[in-house]
Parts: sequence; structure tokens; C-alpha cells
Amino acid sequence: MTRTQAVTTATLRKQKQEKNPIAVITAYDYPSAKLVEEAGVDVILVGDSLGMVVLGYDSTVPVTMDDMLHHTKAVTRAAKRAFVVADMPFLSYHGSVEQTIANAGRLMQEGLAKAVKIEGGSEIAPVVKKLTQAGIPVMAHIGLTPQAVHQLGGFKVQGRDAAAARKLLADAQALADAGAFAIVLECVPEEVAAVISKSIDIPTIGIGAGAGCDGQVLVFHDVVSFASSIKPKFVKQYVQVGELIETAVSSYVKEVKAGSFPGKEHVFHADEETVAHLYGEGVKA
Ligand code: KIV
Repeated sequence: MTRTQAVTTATLRKQKQEKNPIAVITAYDYPSAKLVEEAGVDVILVGDSLGMVVLGYDSTVPVTMDDMLHHTKAVTRAAKRAFVVADMPFLSYHGSVEQTIANAGRLMQEGLAKAVKIEGGSEIAPVVKKLTQAGIPVMAHIGLTPQAVHQLGGFKVQGRDAAAARKLLADAQALADAGAFAIVLECVPEEVAAVISKSIDIPTIGIGAGAGCDGQVLVFHDVVSFASSIKPKFVKQYVQVGELIETAVSSYVKEVKAGSFPGKEHVFHADEETVAHLYGEGVKA
């Protein structure tokens, strides 16, 4: 990838205007952030999906501010050009305005994220407004909002009927009006996502929302198929890294057990005098 200029919210807005799709992927640690940046992504999302794909929870609900800070710090140490957005975890933006701004501020000041993402429709537009007024860029997230999984009754497509689709459109407009710089549309019918994308000035980033969005986001572990047993319809697996890792590690285990690893090329040697000295001191050959 030749582009070296750091991506900003203005870059992303320009990409929408120029119909230049925005590529977003999640990352949660230093090596994967380095790889995805080198691969040319525009935005790295430190998603609270880390709770499921890295920490082994069955939803994003248990993820804490400390979890998000820990992983955001690792990602921002690697990302020099891509725009890093950190998810605000469950309930970290539903308390007082002061507490919400303090939590978002930690992700930027300690985590060095460039922006935060929060889930919810027009009901959280006032929160978006307060954060943006405090100088904190906000990515919104509507449709399937995973932090509300227990309220939604599962990971289901949203906005399928006319009333629900109209509500999504109104939510997107309210969030854009409140100052969000982009909106994630998750698991929304393609037709609905396309109308929303045309109706608002800020970029839409789709996941399971079709090609009419201004950009796409996927979870890193889904894209490379890293130990994930479920494959949602909207995921494309570009490589089977999990299989490669399992094959490599089982070869290692076999070689250790057979005594063929380490080989001659993997060891260090002491000089003869040191060895003689050791034997002289009673160490058995
Ligand atoms: O947490 C996450 O990874 C996300 C994306 C799926 C958009 O919110």
C-alpha cells in the first residue's frame, strides 16, 4: 500500500463524496494491527467483539473499560496511518455526561484512539452531541447492536419491515445531526442500508448490510477464519488461518515428542574449555 498520509474523519467524508469505499477491519493486538495497516485498511476498529473472539465470552456484554483500554493501547502502538476507533463497552456511556466523557477521554488519552464508537439510535443522539462538543469524534452503530443482544432476543437482522426500516432511517439522521462522523449499519437489509447511505452526508459502514454502504467492516478473526466455529452469512473467509495454525502446532508437538526438534541448527554451543570444565566438575556426559 503506497498511501502514507494518516487517515482522518475528513478523509473518510471525502471518500464517501468520491465514492471511494472505506475498508474497515477490527484488530485487538499489536501484530494483527500491524498486518492490517500494512494491508491498506483505512480504519481499524478495536471492537468490543474482542470479548467474543479473543476473551471467550458468548457476548460483548462482559467487556470492561479496562479490557478496551488494554487492547486499544496495543493497536495504537502499531497503527501509524489507519484511523483507530475504539468501542465504548456496555454501559460505559449511559451514566452521567461527566462519566461518559471521562470514559471516552480515557480511550483517547490513554488508549490513543482517534475516535470512539457507541451503539444505539436516536435515544443516544444527545450523548453523541455531548461527546462531539467535547472534541471526541463519534462513530455511531445501529441495526443489530450486539450490546443489546439480550434485549433483541439474539443476533438477528434488523429493519426488515417498513416501520423498523423507517425507524433506522430516522435514527441515522438523528445521529448524523448530533455530530457522528460515521455510522455502522449492522445486519440491515441491503435495500434499507442503501437508502440510509444515500440520505445522510456522513459515511455508512456496513456489516451484513450490502454493497450500497460507503464502506465495509468485518471482524479480523472472521476474515482469516481464526478459530471461529460460526460463520454468519455476511462473512467472507479469505484464508483458513486456524487450520494452518493447528497443522503447524501439531507438527511441533510431534517433533518435540519424537526428539527431532530442536535440530542442530536450533542450538547454541559452549567452547571446548567450558565443556571440559563442566565435565571436570562432575557433570555426567
Ligand atoms: O465490536 C465490533 O467488532 C463491532 C463491529 C462488528 C462493527 O462493533
